[in-house]
Amino acid sequence: MISDNLNIIIRELSSEENVPYNLLLLADPEKEMIDEYLESSRVYVAILNDTAIGAYVLYPLSNSSVEIKNIAVKEEHQNKGIGKILLSDAIREAKEKRFQSICIGTANSSIAQLYLYQKAGFEVTAIKRNFFIDNYALPIYENGIQAKHMIMLSKEI
Ligand code: ACO
Repeated sequence: MISDNLNIIIRELSSEENVPYNLLLLADPEKEMIDEYLESSRVYVAILNDTAIGAYVLYPLSNSSVEIKNIAVKEEHQNKGIGKILLSDAIREAKEKRFQSICIGTANSSIAQLYLYQKAGFEVTAIKRNFFIDNYALPIYENGIQAKHMIMLSKEI
């Protein structure tokens, strides 16, 4: 719904506001992992009618490189182009903060995410083999495929 998308405001979450775990847990099922990277990250939220319906998290890896650690859209708002808007906002924000490259990691089983990121110009740069087996308590399946490896994708900005 393009008209709804026009009414979306994306802004950084302030330190006084509650972290939107309901959104972040859609992209990362373990709260401990989320809390670890939130300590040194900036959180951005997409607001529609006073409600956070999407979020992304930027985590600096160095002075020149930043990682999107989490990107998520509330289930009922998915597949309406909001993920694409969040991704391009993350790229814009990273550029504005003077990073030279931005990266994102997703599972080998995350077909829609691999599509979305490559369409936005990210290219596969590394594979963290067995990442999901080694770091998550329970096996994860998506699209009938086990999430085993983390595919890292990067984009020069
Ligand atoms: N297979 C292929 N392409 C798909 C699929 C699919 N199953 N589903 C959607 N797409 C396409 C859409 O058609 C669209 O393509 P187009 O630009 O050619 O029209 C494109 O993907 C982007 O669609 P959006 O509507 O912008 O994406 P959405 O708003 O649904 O957001 C997101 C994508 C963030 C991945 C959302 O689905 C989500 O929150 N998923 C759950 C959490 C998640 O998996 N987050 C990412 C984990 S990795 C990380 O956080 C670093």
